[in-house]
Amino acid sequence: MKRQALWIVVVAGAVIAAGFATAGAEGTAPAPQYVGAGKCRMCHNSARKGAQYKVWSESKHSHAFEVLATPKALEIATAKGVKDPQKSDACLQCHVTGHGEPADHFAATFSDSSGVGCETCHGPGSNYYTRTVMMDIRSGKAKAEEFGLRMPTSATCAKCHNEKSPSGKSVNWTADSTKIAHPIPAGAETEAAK
Ligand code: HEC
Ligand code: HEC
Ligand code: HEC
Ligand code: HEC
Repeated sequence: MKRQALWIVVVAGAVIAAGFATAGAEGTAPAPQYVGAGKCRMCHNSARKGAQYKVWSESKHSHAFEVLATPKALEIATAKGVKDPQKSDACLQCHVTGHGEPADHFAATFSDSSGVGCETCHGPGSNYYTRTVMMDIRSGKAKAEEFGLRMPTSATCAKCHNEKSPSGKSVNWTADSTKIAHPIPAGAETEAAK
């Protein structure tokens, strides 16, 4: 009986130690996951603050998965010997968020149907998408990269906007392409999120 109890203590200790090991060094957040654009909506949709969600949902990026079901997509796919564009790596690699990454990089709230979502350009959101963290990042108190937040550069765009795009347009956008711009209006930064 005594022996058994000792084992329980040893095993429990090992489990706790393993838990600390996977959590990493003190202060290090767990590996970030994609949560989906819907999770950004509640704080980034007011007109006063630039309505980033609305701007994105009216841009082609939010329809990049749906567009793979159009006759035009099937035409492009057939020419490449691809059967179903919405199921093929050959197309999904540029038409959804985080394609090809391991399953544990995606939260249950994430869905491919959001196409090229916020997190394609800003990084997986699970560690940064709380108001406190976002305010701390913006005010310089927290380092964006430690929480997985990125500000895209033209290299981010060039991952998909390049000559490998089979639709034939091969546009090289700069990161500040006015067609997708969604700035926070000057003066609105320090106000409440809603
Ligand atoms: C709970 C509210 C909340 C949620 C949810 C949220 N944000 Fe934010 N976000 C903020 C606040 C507050 C700021 C600071 C600027 C401001 O006052 O609007 C901010 C700022 C940002 C910035 C600018 C950071 C900088 O350094 O200037 C980006 C980019 C951003 N958010 C992206 C996202 C993305 C992508 C998501 C979804 C994964 C998201 N946010 C979800 C509240 C939120
Ligand atoms: C290298 C990245 C990349 C790959 C791979 C890719 N696409 Fe695209 N696709 C884009 C980009 C970027 C655009 C928007 C600009 C453009 O048309 O080039 C686009 C646009 C489209 C459009 C809209 C074109 C229009 O005229 O409105 C369709 C349809 C499409 N792609 C289908 C496909 C299909 C089907 C596949 C797989 C066989 C595929 N794409 C693979 C990047 C890619
Ligand atoms: C195709 C890439 C792309 C997507 C998708 C995207 N963004 Fe951005 N976002 C950018 C770029 C580029 C900037 C400007 C970066 C800079 O100023 O350095 C930006 C800036 C921002 C800012 C800061 C604006 C400012 O004035 O400080 C916020 C907030 C933001 N995005 C939120 C979002 C949210 C929320 C979504 C989804 C609803 C989203 N973004 C989707 C590329 C993207
Ligand atoms: C993951 C791949 C991917 C990334 C990264 C990406 N795009 Fe796109 N972009 C696409 C696809 C796919 C389309 C076409 C979707 C469609 O036609 O439905 C598109 C469409 C566009 C359009 C046309 C939008 C419209 O509504 O007319 C612009 C402009 C654009 N992208 C700019 C950018 C910029 C700027 C960046 C970087 C900050 C960027 N994209 C990053 C895949 C991407």
